[in-house]
Amino acid sequence: MRFLVTGGAGFIGSHVCHALIRENHDVVVVDDFSTGRASFVPTEAEVVEATLLDAAEITRAFSSAPIDAVIHIAGYKFAGESVDLPLHTYQQNVVGMMNLLEVMKDHSCSRIIFSSSAAIYGEVEDDVIPEEHPKNPANPYGETKLIGEWLLRNGGIAYGLQHTSLRYFNVVGSSEPSIHDTSPYSLFSLVFRALLEGEIPRIFGDDYPTEDGTCVRDYIPVGALARAHVVAAEKLVAGVSLESAYNVGTGRGHSVASVMSMMAEVTGIDFEPTVVPRRPGDPATVVASGERAKRDLGWNPDTNLRDMVSSAWEAFGKEQRD
Ligand SMILES: NC(=O)c1ccc[n+]([C@@H]2O[C@H](COP(=O)([O-])OP(=O)(O)OC[C@H]3O[C@@H](n4cnc5c(N)ncnc54)[C@H](O)[C@@H]3O)[C@@H](O)[C@H]2O)c1
Repeated sequence: MRFLVTGGAGFIGSHVCHALIRENHDVVVVDDFSTGRASFVPTEAEVVEATLLDAAEITRAFSSAPIDAVIHIAGYKFAGESVDLPLHTYQQNVVGMMNLLEVMKDHSCSRIIFSSSAAIYGEVEDDVIPEEHPKNPANPYGETKLIGEWLLRNGGIAYGLQHTSLRYFNVVGSSEPSIHDTSPYSLFSLVFRALLEGEIPRIFGDDYPTEDGTCVRDYIPVGALARAHVVAAEKLVAGVSLESAYNVGTGRGHSVASVMSMMAEVTGIDFEPTVVPRRPGDPATVVASGERAKRDLGWNPDTNLRDMVSSAWEAFGKEQRD
């Protein structure tokens, strides 16, 4: 099968490309390299350097051979920054996706898998979030992901677009040497960077209603997430009907303090994090039920925190060593 992966040079997208190639699929990557890296992309993939903001550029990716399905991973993912940059966020995530859908329609490509996010839920009421949970995104980033899901729903109604959205929780770890999350904001990269620069990592608030007072999040290993994309893509192409959305979570959370103590153990750098006041808008606990994804997408992640931390540290540190 031949798949187009937008954002295939990014942290998650490149893992998806490697997983597809391992299953002998052909891969075309569309990426503008705004945060992605050429070195992350498998050499077997065809690369079209293009921005989703320009439909004519996207068209180039459809020119050599028919695409069986698109895996749309490219996006502007900085939820905090999106509050100050709403126009930029909407342009990247909504206008970019509309262009992509338009070009797909022009080329009779009718299958798409979309990288959605836990951010569509906003303030959560349930301990373990089901897909039906009310959607109240708390920032422009989350809004754009929800709009993305609406675009797909409406494409399905209007012209038979076949689609599914994978709502990722906190994606961490690495299953490819040196491919790591390059975000300046995620917990893992913040702590690793601080440790390498000899600074003390910070915890934002230790007075939440959780076991140790720090926020609890559902951390999911990127390698297993990539494999779930492969299953979803193969099933869509095979005509198997999928749900419109899947929470890709583990049903189990880890507190920020427990992640940090695992980081101290794995890195061998002994540190006592500094506790600073809460950040506005950080919910106490965000954990998702991944039962639907287990049923349909072969989602069966290894939730071993040590493995997630050590694979991420290995990949992150490799860049510093090279
Ligand atoms: N990392 C997470 O924990 C997480 C959680 C939920 C959802 N997501 C979503 O998953 C997707 C991938 O996240 P990631 O962590 O791999 O981020 P990333 O920044 O590493 O990857 C994004 C990729 O998209 C490319 N890109 C961005 N804008 C583009 C554009 N206009 N045209 C073409 N290419 C463009 C970037 O160059 C990069 O290669 C994003 O859509 C993000 O919102 C990520």
